[in-house]
Amino acid sequence: MPQFERVESKRYRLLHPRPVYVIIASHDGRVNAMAASWVSPLSEEPERIMAAFEKDSYTYSLIRASGVFTVNVVSPEQLQLVWCVGTRSGREVDKVRECGLRLEESPGGFPAPHLADALGFIEARVFRVYEDVAEDVDLVVADVAAAYARSGVYNPRYGWELQKAHVLMHASGRAFTTPGRLLVARSK
Ligand SMILES: Cc1cc2nc3c(=O)[nH]c(=O)nc-3n(C[C@H](O)[C@H](O)[C@H](O)COP(=O)(O)O)c2cc1C
Repeated sequence: MPQFERVESKRYRLLHPRPVYVIIASHDGRVNAMAASWVSPLSEEPERIMAAFEKDSYTYSLIRASGVFTVNVVSPEQLQLVWCVGTRSGREVDKVRECGLRLEESPGGFPAPHLADALGFIEARVFRVYEDVAEDVDLVVADVAAAYARSGVYNPRYGWELQKAHVLMHASGRAFTTPGRLLVARSK
């Protein structure tokens, strides 16, 4: 029989590791990026996602002002970039320069850039913001406007080809991981 020990602090860590994304927003000539792992699909009809944003995040303020953002899926090559955009605020530094972000304009004219080196990215339009869900974060629900994946690493039926696309995941603190084994469930 397995024994369980009660977890008393940071209990949400049981839900990690989980993918970590680079979220990018721009408004009025300012572009900024942050790391975010509390991001999730929400619904299929219509296709919506949700994300928790710390209330004082500069990226979040640009999202509030512009109503749009991109969610960039990254790989272990972008680990230091993720750490860089996730540990300083665009209020103090120009993260595009400081963190060496290579940005590209949207192929479809969407008004927020994406990472040129991303595995893929979602272009999202804010549907609704919930300010009363917690003291530290707001919940943003957004429509998927468009999504792009790097050629050859994404299968429309099964998603990321995990032998080729190593999606970066956040464990805790400075610890990250990436899927190492592909497990396929039996059909019955
Ligand atoms: C691995 C990792 C995951 C993070 N996940 C989130 C998240 O889901 N939501 C959030 O608001 N901040 C998250 N952060 C913190 C922000 O990235 C951080 O506060 C950043 O400095 C905000 O920058 P900004 O003020 O320029 O927007 C995460 C940071 C790291 C390193």
